[in-house]
Amino acid sequence: MKQLKLLHALLWLFTALPFTLFLSTASYAEDTPFRINFVTNYKSFQFKAQEELIKSSKAIMPGEIEALINDAMSAEISLGQKMFMLDAANAMASGYNHYHGGGKKLLRKINKLIKEELEKEKAKNAELMKWNDEERFLGNFVMKTREKEMAEKGLAPVIYPHWVHRIWFECKVCHQDIFIMKRWRNDITQAKIEAGQQCGKCHNGELAFGVKDNCDRCHLAGKPEADKLHNAKRVDHKAIKEVAKKVGAEWNFDKLPNGQLPVDRFGFIDWLNMKKVGVFKPIHSLNENYKPETRDNIILFESKSKAKNVLFSHDVHSSWIKCSSCHPEVFTKTLTNNVKMVRMSKGQYCGHCHGKVSFTFADCTRCHMQEKGVMVDGALLHKGKPKKKKKKKP
Ligand code: HEC
Ligand code: HEC
Ligand code: HEC
Ligand code: HEC
Ligand code: HEC
Ligand code: HEC
Repeated sequence: MKQLKLLHALLWLFTALPFTLFLSTASYAEDTPFRINFVTNYKSFQFKAQEELIKSSKAIMPGEIEALINDAMSAEISLGQKMFMLDAANAMASGYNHYHGGGKKLLRKINKLIKEELEKEKAKNAELMKWNDEERFLGNFVMKTREKEMAEKGLAPVIYPHWVHRIWFECKVCHQDIFIMKRWRNDITQAKIEAGQQCGKCHNGELAFGVKDNCDRCHLAGKPEADKLHNAKRVDHKAIKEVAKKVGAEWNFDKLPNGQLPVDRFGFIDWLNMKKVGVFKPIHSLNENYKPETRDNIILFESKSKAKNVLFSHDVHSSWIKCSSCHPEVFTKTLTNNVKMVRMSKGQYCGHCHGKVSFTFADCTRCHMQEKGVMVDGALLHKGKPKKKKKKKP
């Protein structure tokens, strides 16, 4: 009966633990012959051999168990490996207890350590989730490629809020002149910013607050002050208006129906509605000589499903966005791109922006709003990927 209990305990441990104990890169004490034999039996379900080993090792086992616990806790190894070692120590202590009596204290110690490690893991996951949470507002990006250097200076990672900037600047101002429209591609560093590049093109103490101080206005991910960047209701109209005047944009908040930014049912700012009402007028470029280029046509995507058709307005899009942000990387300049929902949901085609910086796919009817069977005057028809002719077998 007792034997069965041990077997169960060991079986549970075996199945739960797919890791290796023998690490080539290990920086802990060398594996002893006992440890190697024990773990080999342990991993290969050799119950009989394990029983023999435990029975014949009474004198050395307490020391072996202690050493394994120490190695598990001291070495710089992954959590998975740590847990494997602690679980192996647990199995040793259970075996010792079963065949020789005693060892309860060791078991308690091991279980406490296992619990602590799991707690640490949970805290680490919560830490990662925290950054997820900081991106809850569509288009807020946490920047932390240099997390270690920032932490060393006691600084939090940066939040870049697209929406705050959209109030004064069209996408064209930044994309593609200052930033490529792709995350992590721009190798943004503090040194470049201080030299007047990247964020420093504007954050120079003139156009926008400078970077020589004000560290916490950008390095604020995870802090309570970040809340204002996630809340379109907490805008300071006077401050926005002042900045607008400075950069040459407009902010006519008196035109907002109830003084608040209009949001869609997903809480995202309805920019087109604001533009229609004339609340804001962002600038196209930091360069006064820049001539905006737009394309004034509409492309009709005929839906082959129950969903309504989709109209893509080149006009609306090219008024915000440079041709080079879409062509040729996102779409070839043809009507034959293979635009499909699955691809979009993975960030291709329309999903390059929608769901990341522009309204999300959850909002089906904002795209699928054109009645089927109705031709739209002057619209070009999206053709889709040309079908390959099937080769006839000879
Ligand atoms: C003030 C500058 C600025 C403006 C204006 C701006 N962006 Fe960005 N955008 C950025 C920065 C910074 C990044 C991140 C770059 C990086 O991580 O290397 C970015 C990244 C992106 C990405 C990449 C997302 C991804 O997951 O790869 C998209 C899409 C994007 N922006 C779309 C837009 C659109 C659409 C507009 C206009 C509505 C816009 N941006 C306006 C600065 C700007
Ligand atoms: C095209 C100009 C421009 C660029 C490029 C730019 N910003 Fe800004 N940003 C502004 C302006 C203007 C403001 C409002 C300034 C003010 O309140 O003094 C602002 C405000 C902010 C705010 C809001 C801070 C607050 O306290 O309200 C953050 C955060 C911010 N920028 C971060 C960044 C980061 C990070 C980058 C680079 C990845 C960046 N910005 C690039 C112009 C720019
Ligand atoms: C306008 C926004 C902004 C301000 C203000 C700002 N930073 Fe940064 N900082 C950034 C961005 C963006 C990064 C790149 C983040 C990343 O991807 O790791 C960065 C990175 C860093 C790094 C990481 C190492 C490196 O060389 O890039 C350090 C350290 C740093 N900043 C220090 C500071 C200090 C100190 C201040 C105040 C004196 C400050 N920052 C003010 C935006 C800002
Ligand atoms: C937001 C992304 C986006 C922007 C910005 C954009 N396009 Fe397009 N473009 C598209 C899409 C989508 C299609 C249709 C693709 C399809 O049907 O397969 C297209 C198709 C085209 C075509 C072939 C159909 C036609 O209209 O004759 C040309 C030419 C073209 N674009 C030129 C431009 C030029 C020039 C600009 C800048 C003034 C521009 N585009 C800006 C997304 C964009
Ligand atoms: C490069 C970025 C980008 C790409 C790619 C893009 N959009 Fe947009 N789209 C925007 C921006 C910015 C707006 C303005 C509203 C907003 O940001 O929420 C917008 C607005 C819209 C609107 C509302 C305006 C209107 O025309 O009535 C529709 C519909 C739309 N997009 C459909 C599409 C479709 C369909 C595609 C793919 C064929 C696509 N978009 C690709 C950035 C993009
Ligand atoms: C940003 C614009 C946009 C949004 C938002 C959007 N779609 Fe689409 N959808 C398209 C485009 C463009 C196509 C391509 C039409 C075609 O040629 O078949 C498409 C195609 C489809 C198709 C045909 C099959 C396929 O994969 O191409 C279905 C079904 C569909 N959408 C359902 C939905 C549903 C359901 C939602 C909301 C959850 C949604 N769409 C949201 C733009 C959008």
